[in-house]
Amino acid sequence: MKKATSPAEVGRILSDVRRKGLSIGLVPTMGALHEGHLSLVRMSLARSDYTVVSIFVNPRQFGESEDLDKYPRTEESDSKLLEELGCDLLFAPVAGSLYSDADRTRVSVSSLGDHLCGASRPGHFDGVLLVVAKLFNMIRPEHAFFGQKDAQQAVIVQRMAADLDYPVRIFIGPTVREEDGLAMSSRNRNLSREKRSKAPGIRTGLLEAAEAIIKGERDASILKMKISDRMTAAGFKIDYVECVDGGTLQPVQSVEGTILLAAAGKLGSTRLIDNIALKVGPEGATETLLEFPGWSRYER
Ligand code: PAJ
Repeated sequence: MKKATSPAEVGRILSDVRRKGLSIGLVPTMGALHEGHLSLVRMSLARSDYTVVSIFVNPRQFGESEDLDKYPRTEESDSKLLEELGCDLLFAPVAGSLYSDADRTRVSVSSLGDHLCGASRPGHFDGVLLVVAKLFNMIRPEHAFFGQKDAQQAVIVQRMAADLDYPVRIFIGPTVREEDGLAMSSRNRNLSREKRSKAPGIRTGLLEAAEAIIKGERDASILKMKISDRMTAAGFKIDYVECVDGGTLQPVQSVEGTILLAAAGKLGSTRLIDNIALKVGPEGATETLLEFPGWSRYER
């Protein structure tokens, strides 16, 4: 596995790869890699000739009161895991090589960030989009891989790629979970033993709501109540519980078509998020991924 720490270095390595006609797959991450990240790396290895994983704890997507300093950094074990999997290039830019104090360009999407994490983390998705746009420009991947775990991010990135004509096909990987259902997250390691045992409450609430939909419930306020009740009982301080359209990410009153049930809350000082996306029709409901081939003309 090669390693690059600057955009210039990555450019040199990849121009060689492109000359050989190899397709490039990109998995953007902030490191502290777990099985959720690794599942995306495996998807890339299966679909692309050459897999690039980026590790960059992107300061622009953290709010002032957020956990940038507390964010886990485990460079050595990350690098070992990627090497073992067969990743071709690790791009770990040093802080400062991506941004300068002089930059003034911002990337944002309208309306998709109005609710869910966008409402509780102002500026967060602008920071995500800025770094993803920069990575797409530096690496110019044919394929890029994002997790359903961060469903709003997955939708927003797909929208940006389509709207700005990035010639990339975006794949969404399912949420990888611990045995008790808790979605894997680098933040899970900040949970005390007691809080860790309560954490699957967010998943249980979402599953109970999904079960109710399967049994015929269509009223979003009843579904949201089920989720909130379960989270409150587990000790969460709720940040949001929402039921939104899977494409527009706007709240719905009644569930129909592709919808996203999403929740976020704090257990102690650790913020956890989770979601379930469902395709709901007169026949019933099935779990789905918020992947939109066809949004971009490069995916048709
Ligand atoms: P990070 O939180 O490191 O996540 C990197 C990728 O892994 C994201 O696409 C995320 O959705 C996915 N992921 C995280 N946990 C997962 C799980 N349990 N199952 C499946 N996929 C999972 O998301 C970011 O970094 C950043 O915002 C980034 C896109 C890198 C931009 O800075």
